[in-house]
Amino acid sequence: MKLDATFSVTYTHRLRCTRSVFSPDNPLLANLLHSGTTTPSRVVVFVDEGLAEATPNYLAEISAFFAANNQHITLVGTPHVLPGGETAKRDRKTLDRALEIISETHICRHSYVLVVGGGALLDCVGLAASLAHRGVRLIRVATTTLSQSDSALGVKNGINAFGQKNYLGVYDVPWAVIHDEATLATLTDEDWCSGFSEAVKVALLKDAALFSDIEHNAEAIRQRDEDAGIPIIRTSAKHHFDHITLNGDPFERGDARPLDFGHWAAHKLEQMSGYTIRHGAAVAIGLALDVTYARLQGWLDESVHERILQTLDALGFTLQHPLLKQRDTLMGGLSDFQEHLGGVRSIPMIRDVGDAFEVHEIDEAVMAQALAWLRAWHPATVASGRSIA
Ligand SMILES: NC(=O)c1ccc[n+]([C@@H]2O[C@H](COP(=O)([O-])OP(=O)(O)OC[C@H]3O[C@@H](n4cnc5c(N)ncnc54)[C@H](O)[C@@H]3O)[C@@H](O)[C@H]2O)c1
Ligand SMILES: [Zn+2]
Repeated sequence: MKLDATFSVTYTHRLRCTRSVFSPDNPLLANLLHSGTTTPSRVVVFVDEGLAEATPNYLAEISAFFAANNQHITLVGTPHVLPGGETAKRDRKTLDRALEIISETHICRHSYVLVVGGGALLDCVGLAASLAHRGVRLIRVATTTLSQSDSALGVKNGINAFGQKNYLGVYDVPWAVIHDEATLATLTDEDWCSGFSEAVKVALLKDAALFSDIEHNAEAIRQRDEDAGIPIIRTSAKHHFDHITLNGDPFERGDARPLDFGHWAAHKLEQMSGYTIRHGAAVAIGLALDVTYARLQGWLDESVHERILQTLDALGFTLQHPLLKQRDTLMGGLSDFQEHLGGVRSIPMIRDVGDAFEVHEIDEAVMAQALAWLRAWHPATVASGRSIA
């Protein structure tokens, strides 16, 4: 017998933007989780340690919120604090701890794992939720600019392993994503800045108006003006949400990863730094390098290239790093990226802001030239119109 059948599974992707999701008078979460029956929904909560430390009353607020809404939702135990940042992904300790807690609290496939924090903890607990019982419902409450502008909207969950970033992981659609925009106030300046490189990335690929917005508001964003920054984060989130729901390849089964502009170098820099460079900071450098390559190839106009570098600089990103001196190791990022895709080299590039295309070959001599050029770059130098030809 030989049987072939094609079938599809329907998913719902949900995004809600709010402030203070655990405020007793914010009905969003209780409404979202209300099962419609008389049995309250069971929820186990994980909180990013960095967030918990920055907001000392946070855990008490979560407990009080669940107590106030106990006719619809039940907090199982108390909120569990787990390490935030790359520590959560560096080894299997945090993953194992999350799995242990999910098992001990008897979370079933109709209960919820709710994780509050930055992209790293969301990735790690997301993997735990996908593994437990082969998948329990996951709610990601994103509390960094990077997770809100990009990572929380994606369907990737994972941790680093065998010296490679995100090597162990699964594609899985969260039950819901919530942006808690009030939490952004306690980020460090570096973490506040970090998420805007993903917004620049998606603007360069898809949205010239968004890029203009970022360009004109870059100084205000750097000064932590939330009225300038949050609309940009939301627009970026919408692009990443649309990419998952409309692009036709949410689980990246094809050769291309069209949103991974600047990421071959970014992932390599993160690995080379022992994951001490923030993802967003590495993406800013990766974008700067790839747009410089595009300019040297004659695809991208000189003035557009300059606007992009100036905007990244104005947002607060440093486009220099001592690791850029390790040219050959960094170039290895091209092969790693190719291996990750499954053998086909497919690198996003741009001809103009909002005009993206894929290249399948990289001229490594020109890329090395782009690297040398970027290492010599200084914002004032570009402003003076120095020729790079
Ligand atoms: N899954 C995906 O599709 C995807 C996409 C892009 C990036 N990522 C991953 O996301 C991770 C980076 O995420 P990130 O930039 O959000 O950083 P992060 O998760 O490393 O968090 C940065 C720091 O901020 C702390 N923190 C979190 N929220 C806080 C708050 N509101 N106030 C104070 N401190 C807070 C954390 O404890 C941590 O120390 C990387 O591991 C990257 O690989 C995943
Ligand atoms: Zn990224």
